[in-house]
Amino acid sequence: MNSDNDLQIAGDILEVPHLLQPPREHPATVAEFVGLARSIAVDRGQWAHLVRYDATTRWYHRLRTGPGYEVWLLSWVPGQGSGRHDHGRSSGVLTVLEGALTEHTARGTRVLAAGAQHVFAPGFVHEVVNDALEPAVSLHVYSPGLTEMPMLPRSASRSAEGTTAHPLCEARPATA
Ligand SMILES: [Fe+2]
Repeated sequence: MNSDNDLQIAGDILEVPHLLQPPREHPATVAEFVGLARSIAVDRGQWAHLVRYDATTRWYHRLRTGPGYEVWLLSWVPGQGSGRHDHGRSSGVLTVLEGALTEHTARGTRVLAAGAQHVFAPGFVHEVVNDALEPAVSLHVYSPGLTEMPMLPRSASRSAEGTTAHPLCEARPATA
C-alpha cells in the first residue's frame, strides 16, 4: 500500500461533516473557560472601555453571562485588595489583563503579571491585592455564576486588619 492509497482510505475530513464537532456556543469545560478568558483578554475592544479606576472601591462590571457561568471585569488601583475569601461552589479562571496582582494563598504568595491565568476549584481560598504602583485590570470567569463570596479571617501571616464583609469580593457593579 503506498501513500496515495493511504490518503484515499483516510479521505478528506472536510467531506465528512458528521465527524466535525460544531463549535459550542457556550463554554462548558475548564479548557473552554480558559479559552473564553483568553479570547476576551486579547480582544481589548470587549473590555478596555469598561475599565474604571475608583479610589474608593474596586470597580467591577459583569461582561457576560451564559448558562452556568459569568464573566466579570475588575479594575484595581494600587493598594486595593479583595480581602481573604473563597468562591462558594464556583470554580473560576482569573486572568490578569493589565498591571500585576499579588495573590496570597495557603501555599504562599505570588505575583500574577499581565497575561497570567489561574484556574481554581470550589473552596479555593485566596486574597488578591494590587501591591504594584500601577493600576491593574483582571478578568474573572466563574462557573457556576458567583452566588456567594464568603469572606474569611486573614491568615496569621497576614495583617490583622479587619476584613470587609461584601457579598462579592469584587466590590460594586458598574451599573446600579
Ligand atoms: Fe476570588
